[in-house]
Amino acid sequence: METELPSGSTTLLPRTPSQSMTQQKKLTIVAATGRVGRQLLEQAVAAGHDVTAVARNPGKLTRQVRTVTADLAAANPAALEAAVAGADAVLSALGPHSNADAGIAAPGTRSIVAAMQATGVRRIVVVSAAPVSTVASAGNPHPPKHDPGDGFFMRHLFSRIASTMFGKVYDDLALMEDILRDSGLDWTIVRPPRLTDKPPTGAYRTAVDRNLRGGFSVSRADVAQLMLRVLDQPETIHHVIGIAN
Ligand SMILES: NC(=O)c1ccc[n+]([C@@H]2O[C@H](COP(=O)([O-])OP(=O)(O)OC[C@H]3O[C@@H](n4cnc5c(N)ncnc54)[C@H](OP(=O)(O)O)[C@@H]3O)[C@@H](O)[C@H]2O)c1
Repeated sequence: METELPSGSTTLLPRTPSQSMTQQKKLTIVAATGRVGRQLLEQAVAAGHDVTAVARNPGKLTRQVRTVTADLAAANPAALEAAVAGADAVLSALGPHSNADAGIAAPGTRSIVAAMQATGVRRIVVVSAAPVSTVASAGNPHPPKHDPGDGFFMRHLFSRIASTMFGKVYDDLALMEDILRDSGLDWTIVRPPRLTDKPPTGAYRTAVDRNLRGGFSVSRADVAQLMLRVLDQPETIHHVIGIAN
């Protein structure tokens, strides 16, 4: 049974399920060649999950797993359906490399959602970004002016700089979040602040439906760990999870 998770709560249990307690799953990892995606791939394989990778450049994959090649800017629906069919969950780290190629997260996620709906796969976990909580979109035309978790620096300085620099990326991610909310699927959105390539710590903070006070960065490895962890936490379904060190 799904447990109600109060918005603003800062604990997600179990904190660190041991590998032996974690049930083996059939997972489809989208954008498994990216810096978060590679962490997802490595950690999922190490945990003994049965992984299918979706990548437009499969030569960049760091593990030999079942692979479906797909450019999500113009994905073949049959290929994506084959990639997700039978999966217990889909994990997506799809996104642009920079502001210049922003605009892939929403259309790519729309294609993934369509493939999941066509094949009856329900669970999806994606990466968004902390500043998206205050970005207006068609599905959320009146977001809060400030995220309740953000402190003075984030509210008045960083968010302005970030939206000037990465506005196109955030608009695309906000639309991606709309698509998930409208999907009827069992989604969880993970919203990190600035990503680093530091090693996994497992010592990150999380918060439900808000950002974290003083949370300026987190490693891609810890984001991947959280994305895998929420698969065993059905109470995170239909919630945004903020993460930061
Ligand atoms: N950078 C930050 O500090 C930050 C902070 C908060 C949130 N985020 C979000 O987190 C996301 C993931 O971060 P990251 O560091 O892992 O990004 P990344 O290393 O740039 O990875 C992006 C992934 O998306 C894939 N991709 C892009 N366009 C595609 C397309 N048309 N078809 C198929 N795959 C495509 C890339 O494939 P290729 O390997 O083939 O290029 C790559 O696997 C970012 O895109 C951003 O939305 C970033």
